[in-house]
Amino acid sequence: MRIALLGSGRGSNADAVLRAQAEGRLGQAKVVGLWCDVPTCKMLELGPKYGVPARFLDSGPFKTKFSPEREQVWADDLKAAQVDLVVLAGFMRVIKAPLLDAFAGRIINLHPSLLPAFPGLDGIGQAWNAGVPEAGCTVHWVNAEIDGGAHLGQTRVHREVTDTLESFANKIHAAEHALLPAVIARLSETLSR
Ligand code: GAR
Repeated sequence: MRIALLGSGRGSNADAVLRAQAEGRLGQAKVVGLWCDVPTCKMLELGPKYGVPARFLDSGPFKTKFSPEREQVWADDLKAAQVDLVVLAGFMRVIKAPLLDAFAGRIINLHPSLLPAFPGLDGIGQAWNAGVPEAGCTVHWVNAEIDGGAHLGQTRVHREVTDTLESFANKIHAAEHALLPAVIARLSETLSR
């Protein structure tokens, strides 16, 4: 299963997926490239580190959505790379047609909350400010509703009284780094090509 990792920032989850692949923990999945929508994105440094093609692709003038023309360019580029599964690993842009249509039922997203709680931006900050005793992360299918598709996996993280926002966030990130490669490995065994 040929997978594309899409990200906008630090790339710690892309790193976790590539590390899993290097250690033989990614099942039948193979990362065929990294696609970033921010030219200064740290995630781009993972390309040379792991010997995987990494590219910045312009997404248009908006911050959290594509322009329709640029979204078509992304869809065409991913199709040209013969991608079977698109993985949003810290990708901060909403996916709509034409990308959503080009990869219908073939896009998954990682979100740092126990969805359906705290969708949208800053899932960790939302959970922290709400004072919930339990938070976590979710991997789900992407559909037209923001963070609304069927769940593929969730990990729960407890908030201890000693936690700071930083330690709380670190625990959620550690949970993400385990969950995303595990879900990809499972899908690689079950999703038809
Ligand atoms: C992760 O916590 C991911 O769940 C979140 O962005 C972070 C990216 O970190 N994604 C979203 O909030 C998507 N709505 P990373 O760049 O280090 O992987």
